[in-house]
Amino acid sequence: MKAPSASRKKILLIYFSFSSQTNNLVLALINGLEKYNITVVRQRLVPMEQIRFPIGSIRGTIRMMVATFFRKRFPIEPIDPHCFHEYDLIILAGPTWSYNPSGPVLSLFDQYGERLFAGRLVLPLISCRGYWRVHWWGLKNLLGKYGARIVNVIVFCHPNPEPWRTIGVFLKLAGEVPEKKAWLAGKYRKYGHTQKQLKEAKRFGKLIGMELDQGGNNLHQLNFETEIAQP
Ligand SMILES: Cc1cc2nc3c(=O)[nH]c(=O)nc-3n(C[C@H](O)[C@H](O)[C@H](O)COP(=O)(O)O)c2cc1C
Repeated sequence: MKAPSASRKKILLIYFSFSSQTNNLVLALINGLEKYNITVVRQRLVPMEQIRFPIGSIRGTIRMMVATFFRKRFPIEPIDPHCFHEYDLIILAGPTWSYNPSGPVLSLFDQYGERLFAGRLVLPLISCRGYWRVHWWGLKNLLGKYGARIVNVIVFCHPNPEPWRTIGVFLKLAGEVPEKKAWLAGKYRKYGHTQKQLKEAKRFGKLIGMELDQGGNNLHQLNFETEIAQP
């Protein structure tokens, strides 16, 4: 991890990604931010006990969904000391797990909540199949509890129609290939976010970069609620 220089605006991007969807969004966002005079320090959350994607069985997937519904923590490796430096913005990105923030993000709050977030400007980014509102509400509570100032929110949903989206995500987690199942193929195009959505994430990165370049007082006015992000 590179230490930011004093003259540029600085963003800390903390994220967890299980099946690469948040990771892809984060990379696209950074790509957009790179056009501006901004240093991005990236911190990926790494669970102490490796969790494999796909989970690989229906029983294991159900077990994980039940555990995460009850907000099971997934302890994480220590984060880099650079995370505690001063930043103009913290972007906290991760998936929805059973209507909650993911286990590693919950552990981040348990371990570092106050030290990391007190008095900081925070922009959460959520990757989910479509059901993010309870997660968002929980995040707002946690960030508020630790004294963060939330400036906006970015949400990306998988753009498949229901019920195929839920069935597809479940099968993917269980280790199947839903796109190739004859009975599902016409209705379920692809697991996760599309190229169009990654382009949108890049555009959001540019919007954030431009706004920070101009002082960063209007981050709350940026419109991230688009048809492409949340179809
Ligand atoms: C255990 C588990 C529970 C999930 N629960 C939800 C949920 O409640 N709502 C939702 O919209 N998506 C849910 N998802 C789907 C993920 O949020 C979605 O696939 C996301 O894009 C994954 O991002 P990632 O690859 O960065 O981990 C769940 C995924 C897992 C693994």
